[in-house]
Amino acid sequence: MSSSIFPVKNIAPDRLPDLLRRMPKAELHMHIEGSLEPELIFALAQRNGLTLPYAAVEDLRRAYAFTNLQSFLDIYYAGAGVLLHEQDFYDMAHAYLARAAIDTIAHAELFFDPQTHTARGVAMETVVNGLYRACMDAQTEFGISASLIMCFVRHLSEQEAFETLEQALPYRDKIIGVGLDSGEVGNPPENFARVFARCRELGFRLVAHAGEEGPPAYIWSALDVLRVERIDHGVQAFKDPALMQRLVKDKVPLTVCPLSNLKLCVFPRLADHNLGQLLDAGIVATINSDDPAYFGGYLNENFTQTFAATGLTAQHAYTLARNSFEASFIDAGAKRNYVDRLNAAFETFV
Ligand code: ADE
Ligand code: ZN
Repeated sequence: MSSSIFPVKNIAPDRLPDLLRRMPKAELHMHIEGSLEPELIFALAQRNGLTLPYAAVEDLRRAYAFTNLQSFLDIYYAGAGVLLHEQDFYDMAHAYLARAAIDTIAHAELFFDPQTHTARGVAMETVVNGLYRACMDAQTEFGISASLIMCFVRHLSEQEAFETLEQALPYRDKIIGVGLDSGEVGNPPENFARVFARCRELGFRLVAHAGEEGPPAYIWSALDVLRVERIDHGVQAFKDPALMQRLVKDKVPLTVCPLSNLKLCVFPRLADHNLGQLLDAGIVATINSDDPAYFGGYLNENFTQTFAATGLTAQHAYTLARNSFEASFIDAGAKRNYVDRLNAAFETFV
C-alpha cells in the first residue's frame, strides 16, 4: 500500500505544481464545518436572522490567528453556529465539493461533528440529510464520490458519544465511519473505548485524531484500544521509534494536514514539517486540508506549499496520491479504478 514501485519519470521541479494540481487524489481528513468560508458564515447568518460578533467578513478573517488547537476550536465551533437548516448543511458541503472538483479530488471522506449542532437544538436528521444529499449530488454534478464520517468530540463524555450514536442509528446507511476529534491533550482515546467497540460491532469504519498535539501514547491507544484503521494527523509518532515501526509494519495510514499543523503551531515553519521523513520511513502518509477555510488553503495548496517548502519529489507525489486511494474506505474495485486513473495521469504528464 505504501511507497509505490510505479516508475515516475523525471519531472523538472518547476513542473511539480502543475502535476500536483492535475493528479487525481482523495481527501480523507477534512471537517466539513472547517470548510465554512467567512463569506458563507455571513450569508448563512443573514439568511437565518443571526447576529455575528464581527462587523464584516474581514474582521472575522482577522481573528484567524491561532496559537494552538484550542484557540482554533473556539472560533470554529462559534462559526458552525450559523448552521440551522438542512439546506445550510447542504450548501456548506456543496461548496466544499465544488471546490474539491477544482483540486482534482476524485473521492472525499467528510468529517462532521453532530454534537456541535445537536447541542444547539438542531436535529441529527437535519445535519445528516443535508450533508448526505450534497455527497450524492457531487457524484452527478462533479464526478466525485463522497462519504460521511461522524466524529465524536472528545471534550465531551463517552456517555454523550453513546447518545450521539443512538441518534445517528436511523441514518446508519448514510454514514460510513466514526472518528474522534476536538481538544486532544487531556482527552485520551481510551476514554472512548466502549463506544468505539460498539461502533465496530455495528460495522462502522473507525478513525481517530491522535498525535496532532498529543503524545505518541495516544496513537498507541487509538490503535490498540479503539482499534482504528487510520490515524488522523499522527505527526507526533516520530518521537517513538517503536511506534514508527508499528505504523510501517501494519501499514496504518496517517492523514497528515501540513497547513493545519503550520497554522496551529505544531511545526514552526512548513520547511520543518516531518511529512518527508514519515514517507521515507515507509509510513502510508496522505496529505489533507483539515479545515481549509481556516488554515489558508484547500488540498492543492497543501500539496504545492508543502512540496515547495520541503523539497518532496514527483515520486513522493505519486506515493501520496496512491496512498490516498489505498487508505480510503471505497471498495477494492473503485480503488483499482482510481489508481488506474492516477497511473494514466502520470503516464500522460508531459
Ligand atoms: N476539529 C476540527 N479540526 C480539528 C483538528 N485539527 N483537530 C481536532 N479536532 C478538530
Ligand atoms: Zn482534523
